[in-house]
Amino acid sequence: MQRFIALQISKPNARNPGPLRASIGTSPPSPMTTISDVFHIPFSRRRLLHSLALATAGFTTRDALAEALLLTPRQTEGPYYPDHLPLDQDADLIHVTGDATAALGTLTQFGGRLLNADGKPVAGASIELWQADNNGCYIHSRGEQNGRQRDAHFQGFGKITTNEKGEYRFRTIMPGLYTGRTRHYHIAVMKGGKRMLTTQLYIAGEPQNERDGILNSIKDPVQKLSVIREFKPAHAESKELVATWDIVMGITPEDPERRRGPGGPPPPPGKGGRRPPQPR
Ligand SMILES: [Fe+2]
Repeated sequence: MQRFIALQISKPNARNPGPLRASIGTSPPSPMTTISDVFHIPFSRRRLLHSLALATAGFTTRDALAEALLLTPRQTEGPYYPDHLPLDQDADLIHVTGDATAALGTLTQFGGRLLNADGKPVAGASIELWQADNNGCYIHSRGEQNGRQRDAHFQGFGKITTNEKGEYRFRTIMPGLYTGRTRHYHIAVMKGGKRMLTTQLYIAGEPQNERDGILNSIKDPVQKLSVIREFKPAHAESKELVATWDIVMGITPEDPERRRGPGGPPPPPGKGGRRPPQPR
C-alpha cells in the first residue's frame, strides 16, 4: 500500500508556536489535515523525522505521533521559590481566603494537560506555580525589589493536583516585570514525592522576551516556543487573558544541583555557602 507523507515546515515565530506540521496516511494528504489536529504540542525535528521513519516501517500514525512528543525544557528555579508558603495554596492566586480584596493586575488563566513522553496523561501529579505580583515582587523574604511593596492581596504561590485526564488550571495575574527579566511564571512538577520538572512559562509578544537570558538559554527554537504561549481574551468583552499550555515530563527526576544553575537557589549549607539573590 502506498503511504503518503506530507511535511510542511513554517518559520517559527512567537505567535505561531506550531512550526512543524505533518500528515501521514494511505491516501493523498489533504491540505487541511495537519499534525496539530491530533496533538498541539511542538515537535523536535530529530524526533519528528524518527517518527516518520517509524510510520513508514509499519507503526500506526498514532504510535508515531505519540513517540514524537517533545519534553518541556527544564529552566532554573530562580532565587524566589517561597521561603514561607502562604496558608492559602489553592490554584486561584487572585483571591486569598479570608481577604475580600482581589489581587491587582491583569487577570489571566492558563492550563492544559500534563503528559508523559508517550502522550499519556499523568494523573495525581502536583503542579506548583509561583510568580511576581503586579509590582514585580515575590512572596519571599527577599522578594521586594527597588523599594516596591508586595501586593498583600496576591497569593503569590499556588498548587494543583492533576485529574485523571492529566488536566490542571491556574487562575492568576500577568506577572509583573522586575529588573533583568521578561514576564514569566515559575512552574514545578512533583510526582511520587520527587521533583520531576522545573520550568518557566512565557507570554508571546512580550518585547523583553528577545533579551531574556533564561528564556534564550533554550537554544532550540522549537523547544523555546514550547514554553511561550499567547494569552488571549476569553471572549470579545473579556478582560481576562487565557492560554493553553500542555506540559510534557520525562521519567527522570530532576537533579537538584542542575536546577540551581544561573539565577537558581543558593546551595545548601556546607556546599559553597550562600550566594546573594539574582534577578531571576
Ligand atoms: Fe522569576
